[in-house]
Amino acid sequence: MAEYARLEVDGHVYELPILTGTEGERAVDISKLRTQSGLITLDDGYGNTGSCSSEVTFIDGDEGILRYRGYPIETLAEHSSFVETAYLLIFGHLPTQAEREHFSDLLTEYSALHESMMKHFDAFPTNSHPMAIMSAMINSLSTHERPKIEPGDDAALEIYAAKLISKIRTIAAASYKSSIGQPIIYPRPDLRYVDNFLHMMFSLPYKEYEASPEVSHALNMFLVLHADHEQNCSTSTVRMVASGEANLYAACSAGVVALWGPKHGGANTEVVTMLQRMRREGISPQEFLNQVKDKKNNRRLMGFGHRVYRNFDPRSKILRGAADRLLTAMKIDDPLLGMAQELADLALNDDYFVERKLYPNVDFYSGVILRAIGIPLNMYTVMFSMGRMPGWIANWKEIHDNPGQKIYRPRQLYVGSEKREWVPRHAR
Ligand code: ACO
Repeated sequence: MAEYARLEVDGHVYELPILTGTEGERAVDISKLRTQSGLITLDDGYGNTGSCSSEVTFIDGDEGILRYRGYPIETLAEHSSFVETAYLLIFGHLPTQAEREHFSDLLTEYSALHESMMKHFDAFPTNSHPMAIMSAMINSLSTHERPKIEPGDDAALEIYAAKLISKIRTIAAASYKSSIGQPIIYPRPDLRYVDNFLHMMFSLPYKEYEASPEVSHALNMFLVLHADHEQNCSTSTVRMVASGEANLYAACSAGVVALWGPKHGGANTEVVTMLQRMRREGISPQEFLNQVKDKKNNRRLMGFGHRVYRNFDPRSKILRGAADRLLTAMKIDDPLLGMAQELADLALNDDYFVERKLYPNVDFYSGVILRAIGIPLNMYTVMFSMGRMPGWIANWKEIHDNPGQKIYRPRQLYVGSEKREWVPRHAR
């Protein structure tokens, strides 16, 4: 039976349908409210706004649950490769052996960049931020070909999705190589996704890099854990751009830019910068927490807090164990991991953080893993963007395949000046 919420304004009652998601989440449908009443809803920062219905990812922030297409993140992190997870997110089911092989073959086939794109790397100033290079290069893919995908044409989408997921890896490694003045290393067809990336990052023309199984495993897990996270800042950006019918490459390059900021994907860099600073300046974890709690310092504990998770971030739990295992296997004694763990333990028992429901998020431990692998600090958010690409594509597809899709166009409450008379220059 249909359920309604009732809103009473100026003596009029408006009935607003209540919709229920597959996991029992309920939403008040306000899409007709303005037509019926002239009212809009106001929710700065979208903390309480569902911007769409989606079949891709489910999060229960109170219970610390994250599932891609119904599969718990813990299971995928343990059993699935990043490539399989990407296929699952985009096409909605775990690939059969044949589907998986076909998708892997496409990734191999499309891993190289057009030779003219290689020249772009020389044109960026030394020390350019790799996120700027990444977004520019993803957008540049559209200068070579604009993806032509009819709504519902999964075969065409698979080709362009494979191109993006494969080329973002090549671009990431090439941007690093060019930033340190080393020759760009080309992809190898015999290597799997993660190992191929490590090869392009760390091989030299005269010396092949060989990834250890522990490093490949940890990086694969990192990418799986970052592959999607429903309507976050960058994914909402991709959907917004897609709703204007921009092509897949353009929409995903917008996602890269949105990911850049320190409150979003940039937080993984900030966490390690914060730990390094504490170490350099001899600030103990407790002293640092005191600084954070004192609002006049305007400082945050980076890698802590999340708009949706109010209990724990399941990705952070998995990464904490993975960081421990990786460092043990590599026989690395990283003081930053010890500091991170002490900070987390103190914060988790501190009233300030408990009352505000602030827990370690995905970025808190990921930097420790990337550091152990040898990924430089300014590449951390680039690594996040590589991981998030499948989620962006899956969300682009939902918009693109929806025949009734409207352009995303929020309203606002105008609070600026009322109508004013223009004043001639001499009279101002
Ligand atoms: N350290 C200290 N205090 C914090 C933190 C933090 N990391 N996060 C939130 N708070 C406090 C705020 O100061 C505020 O306190 P108040 O009520 O006394 O004013 C309260 O908690 C609520 O904070 P908001 O900023 O309103 O929470 P919001 O849900 O908007 O922000 C966010 C979420 C941006 C993730 C925030 O927790 C933050 O800035 N964390 C640090 C950056 C970070 O790790 N970002 C990565 C997020 S995960 C991702 O995008 C991949």
